[in-house]
Amino acid sequence: MNSHFKPGIITATAIIDSKALLANYQQIKSLAPSAKILAVLKANGYGHGLARMANILVNSTTPVDAFGVARLDEALILRASGIVQPIVLLEGVFNQADLPVVAVNDLQVVVHDKEQLNAIINISPEKLRQKQLKVWLKIDTGMHRLGIDKELFQYFYHALQQSHNVQLPLVLMSHLACADEQNNQNTATQLTLFEQITAKYTEPKSCANSAGICAWPASHYNWLRPGLMLYGVSPLNDATENQEASAVALNIAPVMTLQASIIAIRQVKTGECVGYGANWTSDKNTTIGVIAIGYGDGYPRHAENGTPVLLNGRIVPLVGRVSMDMITVNLGEEQPDNTNHDEIGDIATLWGKGLPVEVIAKHATTIPYELLCNIKSRVKKILI
Ligand SMILES: Cc1ncc(COP(=O)(O)O)c(C=O)c1O
Repeated sequence: MNSHFKPGIITATAIIDSKALLANYQQIKSLAPSAKILAVLKANGYGHGLARMANILVNSTTPVDAFGVARLDEALILRASGIVQPIVLLEGVFNQADLPVVAVNDLQVVVHDKEQLNAIINISPEKLRQKQLKVWLKIDTGMHRLGIDKELFQYFYHALQQSHNVQLPLVLMSHLACADEQNNQNTATQLTLFEQITAKYTEPKSCANSAGICAWPASHYNWLRPGLMLYGVSPLNDATENQEASAVALNIAPVMTLQASIIAIRQVKTGECVGYGANWTSDKNTTIGVIAIGYGDGYPRHAENGTPVLLNGRIVPLVGRVSMDMITVNLGEEQPDNTNHDEIGDIATLWGKGLPVEVIAKHATTIPYELLCNIKSRVKKILI
């Protein structure tokens, strides 16, 4: 028998749009032209590729000022890929033994507790090869996750100022817990406390994540720390219900578009079920499309029935459970004149251009951050 496979069938593929990344970066800059930008690239650049994102951003007409990562290994990957810009370990180090590696690789560290302070001020300059460390001193202004209490600020500040291992000036920073909620007064309270603690200090300051950048101009200070927004996703919690909070209104565009082809099309009759656990039953005769993406690629297993998928210019609903390598969508009743026109090989968009990841996150009772950084390594990445 001859094979009739259609050419061009793709399994889960993430199209990464470098122009969108650069435009989002410029949009962020335009919101606070005099602030510097630390681009947050942790968790594999929010699933977009760590070195890939960094290399695009350093080749911008106005290169990014610094990168932020969560782990030492992430910083070392950036250095190994030729990134020479400042890199900040946003949680600092967890071991004194890491400090020489930090020094040799010219990394910067956050200090948020006494262990980190002591490690830095007590290590011998020889171990640091006489290099001084640039320190971002993190103050807890109400998130109660990382950061020193107000009462300890003076002590930490002076200990770091006096240490021969520290390169001055420090950067004074805090992190906002609720900036994505535009009416939540926690943010104003946090910013007031930050102001009280740091007002008389002339060091550069930093408080704004993406939501701070968009919704709280008072948080901008000297360094912005955008993550999500760089990738073209709205950081505001009501992005799917409130047009003004959407990525379009914020003038940013998705960097990742996740796609996969239809690999099978079949008819189901009224009363027939689809997928594991038979968790969806058709109430009419219809056509089911099987798409080559599943939770093994990072598509959320908990996406509910009805989660939108973009196919041939229209939205079709996910039906049945998400499998490891496949999902099933309801293509609708077969039209007598075959106007649905769906065919094996047609490419569906799971999120990205035309279908915001914010919407999919809502249907999967999660947040866009989790969907993006869950993208698995087997997903092909195509840089455009
Ligand atoms: C300290 C710090 N700053 C900035 C960011 C970036 O946050 P967002 O992705 O919301 O912009 C993060 C990420 O969680 C962070 O931990």
